[in-house]
Parts: sequence; structure tokens; C-alpha cells
Amino acid sequence: METKNILYEITDGIALVKINRPESLNALNSQLLGELECTLYEIENDSKAQVVIITGAGEKAFVAGADIKEMVAMTSYEGHQFALQGQRVMLFIEKMTKPVIAAVNGYALGGGLELALACDVIYAAENARFGFPEVTLGIIPGFGGTQNLPRLIGPNRAKELVFSGRIIPAQKALTWGIVNEVCPQAELAGKVMELAREIAKNGRLGVSYAKNAIVNGLNMTKPDGVRYEGSLFGVLFATEDQKEGMGAFVDKRKAEFKGK
Ligand code: CAA
Repeated sequence: METKNILYEITDGIALVKINRPESLNALNSQLLGELECTLYEIENDSKAQVVIITGAGEKAFVAGADIKEMVAMTSYEGHQFALQGQRVMLFIEKMTKPVIAAVNGYALGGGLELALACDVIYAAENARFGFPEVTLGIIPGFGGTQNLPRLIGPNRAKELVFSGRIIPAQKALTWGIVNEVCPQAELAGKVMELAREIAKNGRLGVSYAKNAIVNGLNMTKPDGVRYEGSLFGVLFATEDQKEGMGAFVDKRKAEFKGK
């Protein structure tokens, strides 16, 4: 599919997705969200891709939120539909069998922070800024932010951020547990690629089942989650990758995973 707001390429098992509306600080409008959904769907179904990286075009922003200029005249019905469209994309990222890393290269505000929170890992540049300014616009986060942030950092810090609309620097986001790692802007792409390559070396079934166990387990009670983990663990013993991974250990050689 031809997409002008989303650029992507797959190299050595790693899909690099770029949100490409730098003139609007990569703000998410409905056309862009549609393109992002199609792109992620394509990547999910492309066996060449094992790991996904999402980043923003330009130096200033990952994504500065949902597009305020598009939302300004929306009716209540349209606002709801827009939230559902954004939520569908965020939930798809969570459901993807491939790990998704957010490389936050600048502002991650509102829908931009929601996009980062939907990803499995967040690496940020030192100049990155995080926040939910929605209440300053008379609305609330609508792409899953009120649900994902408190689950990640606890309700009190999430409420502080959402109620104040305050924008926090990358170091504070690191201290609060929103991001995994912070590095200089010039090193971000390299650091993220290093992690992606490390993940891509592993058996793709193992990685995908691990994501499945963690993401779905978070929506279960602990006993149910542990039972679910046990079932997935058992299923992996029916795969060639398990025989190869353990066989390689026993034979003292490097495993060659096939994803089967
Ligand atoms: N929507 C639409 N356009 C946006 C935008 C957004 N979220 N963020 C930035 N832009 C546009 C600006 O309007 C500007 O366009 P023009 O040149 O045509 O005026 C361009 O991007 C550059 O932005 P600024 O000139 O404002 O850049 P700055 O460096 O002075 O400020 C900023 C940067 C602090 C991020 C500021 O742009 C800003 O506050 N943006 C809005 C952030 C925001 O409120 N995000 C939440 C949106 S609501 C939401 O996301 C709802 C949800 O949960 C689904």
C-alpha cells in the first residue's frame, strides 16, 4: 500500500516504521492512523519482519499528539469514532506477535505518548518530552492512555501527569518507569537497533509467546496468568525451535532458529 504519512522498510528482520508528518510534529490524524494500521498489519503478516521499531521523522518529535486541527470541529460522535480508531491501532500493537520498540526522538505528547505506551519497550533521546496535555484542551487521553499509564507506573503518578497536563523530561520519565532507557539523541537509533538485533537473534516463537504471556497475563488474575504461562511453555515443546535451542546448548554450538 502507498502511504505518504508512514515510511517503512525491513532490513535483516527489523522493520523500521517512521511516522512522517514532521511539519505537524508527526501529529496523528485519521488518514495517518489508517496508514499506520495498514502498515503494521502488513508487517505482522510479513515473515521477513521479526522486530518492529517505531520512531518519528525529523529531529523534534516522536508524535506531538492526535491532530488538534482535525479534532477542533469534531462532534461527540466523531470524537468517539476517532478514539476508537486510535485505540484499534494501539491494541493492534499490543496484539502483534512481534515485539515493538518505540524510539522516542522528541515530543511524545497525548496520542504520541499513547503510541509509545502501546509499544513493548520505550527508548528515548535526552531531548524527549512526555506528557498528556489533553486536559489543557478540554478533553482526556483517548487512545488508551488513562488505562496504560496507571498500569505501567501506578495510579498516583499517572493522575499527576494526566490532571496537570504537565510535560516532563526524559530523565524524569526514566525515573518514573515510563521509559526503559535514555541516551543522547545521536545514539538513539544505534541503541534501539542493537536491542532489536539482540531480540531478532532469538527464536521468534519464543519471543512472540513471551510477549503473549506478558501482555495477556497483565489482564488476568495472577493464578490465571501463571496457568496461561504454563500452557504456552508446554506448546513450545512441540516446536523445532525448542529442539534446536536446547540441542544447540547441549552440543555447545550456536542455535539456528527457524521460527517453526
Ligand atoms: N496537532 C496538530 N498540529 C500540531 C500538533 C498537534 N497535536 N502539535 C504540533 N502541531 C503543529 C503546530 O500547529 C505547528 O503547525 P503550524 O506551523 O502550521 O502552526 C507545527 O506543528 C509546529 O508546532 P509548534 O510551532 O507549536 O512547535 P513548538 O516547538 O513551538 O511547540 C509543542 C511544540 C510544545 C509540542 C506544541 O506544538 C504543542 O503544544 N503541540 C500540541 C501538543 C498536544 O496538546 N498534544 C495532545 C493532543 S490531544 C490528543 O493527543 C488526544 C488523544 O489522547 C487522542
